[in-house]
Amino acid sequence: MRILGIGGSPRAGGNSDFLLDQALEAAGASGAEVERLYVRELEISPCHECDHCRERQPCPIPTDGAQRFFEALDRCPVVVLATPVFFYGPPASLKALIDRAQARYHARRAERTSPVLGAGFVLAAGGSRRADTFSALELILKEWFFALRRELAELRGFGGLEGPGAARAAGEVREAARRLGERAARWRGGG
Ligand SMILES: Cc1cc2nc3c(=O)[nH]c(=O)nc-3n(C[C@H](O)[C@H](O)[C@H](O)COP(=O)(O)O)c2cc1C
Repeated sequence: MRILGIGGSPRAGGNSDFLLDQALEAAGASGAEVERLYVRELEISPCHECDHCRERQPCPIPTDGAQRFFEALDRCPVVVLATPVFFYGPPASLKALIDRAQARYHARRAERTSPVLGAGFVLAAGGSRRADTFSALELILKEWFFALRRELAELRGFGGLEGPGAARAAGEVREAARRLGERAARWRGGG
């Protein structure tokens, strides 16, 4: 299984990066081939809502970091995304990448049959312990993975992660991230 790991946090070395490292290390140990991208390094232009992609592909935005993501995605059926929650949603840089899937969303909607090509596994970090901390993020990512022709297989949210080293200090968080990585490596198609 080829897995694309996406680091969604603008902060290097924080909780999401730790969760991603753990999941990908465990996935690699389970036999997966792993590549990774950090959204903060991609420089992605936001969607202009020109609506070009309703009728025609490709998106007319000049080549930027989004293409690197889509090229990697097309090699990797499974995506493991690690992201913090910002105001209940993804950070702005990750949201820009999510919105750039609009061309794929239209392409998928235009097809009569639209096979699922893979799966998305998500590790999410939040400072709060509220029960609804990850609810909005889950809706957003479910729709994103639909556009990417992936099913959202699993979203695991970890609340109470305040400082950048909080995930590292919690043994059960590390273990949960590793188990998710192992499940991602074993993914063999939706049911
Ligand atoms: C702009 C901003 C908005 C945030 N909004 C939320 C929020 O809505 N809910 C929450 O639980 N935590 C929120 N947080 C806290 C982060 O999600 C939390 O610190 C997380 O562990 C950061 O992960 P990282 O180290 O991977 O960046 C916010 C942090 C920032 C900087």
